Amino acid sequence: MTRTPIIAGNWKMFKTVSEATAFVNEIKGGAEVAGVESVVCAPYTCLPALVEAVKGTSIKVGAQNMHWEENGAFTGEISGLMLQDLGVHYVIIGHSERRAYYAETDETVNKKVHAAFKYGVTPIVCVGEKLEEREAGQTKDVCKVQTEAAFAGLSAELAKQVVVAYEPIWAIGTGKSSTAADAQDVIGYIRSLIAALYDSSVADAVRIQYGGSVKPNNVTEYMGEQDIDGALVGGASLEPASYIALVQGAK
Ligand code: G3H
Repeated sequence: MTRTPIIAGNWKMFKTVSEATAFVNEIKGGAEVAGVESVVCAPYTCLPALVEAVKGTSIKVGAQNMHWEENGAFTGEISGLMLQDLGVHYVIIGHSERRAYYAETDETVNKKVHAAFKYGVTPIVCVGEKLEEREAGQTKDVCKVQTEAAFAGLSAELAKQVVVAYEPIWAIGTGKSSTAADAQDVIGYIRSLIAALYDSSVADAVRIQYGGSVKPNNVTEYMGEQDIDGALVGGASLEPASYIALVQGAK
């Protein structure tokens, strides 16, 4: 099975609208590599301008979160319907920062995954262990619980379209990246979990990224592993030259 690699930049809470559009203008061409999908996941405020800015390019736009309800009295929230309305392709769900700071749970992650598909937005679902869980030898147990919860109730057809991002929390923004071999070990395990939930055709179709201190100088090493299909990148996705190098390094 050939899976299209996917590099997604997660800008987190960085960039104004003018900075975001300038970024896209700088990466046009360079970050459009045949056979690699390129996605920028921006703050909500930047999304309408970015959707316009990427028109005529192969670059896709993603959000960083959404609510599972279509609308309602949820002050400060944004729904899948609203993302669909803007023309957003992807949404990050269950990032460890949202799990840690905004009470995201495995249950809300699952609700959001279902809601994303309902509105035609593809979820990038984050899973990964804390440092103390890794040190206690619980990495795979944590990933199992989070992965099974995220996929609960999804048809095989939808499951194939999910993008999973394995992000060991201790590697996020710390400069301490997992070795490619360790990331492959966990990501191969996640793929085996999906095979057990569905079958090998679903597991072979799902794209699984590694995230956590991915940089232009290490992305190729991760991409050399058989089960790693791309990267979810924070810090190194913020500068145009660095982002272009990441996409080019994923080929
Ligand atoms: O979503 C991206 C991750 O949190 C990784 O962030 O590349 O800055 O370590 P980082």
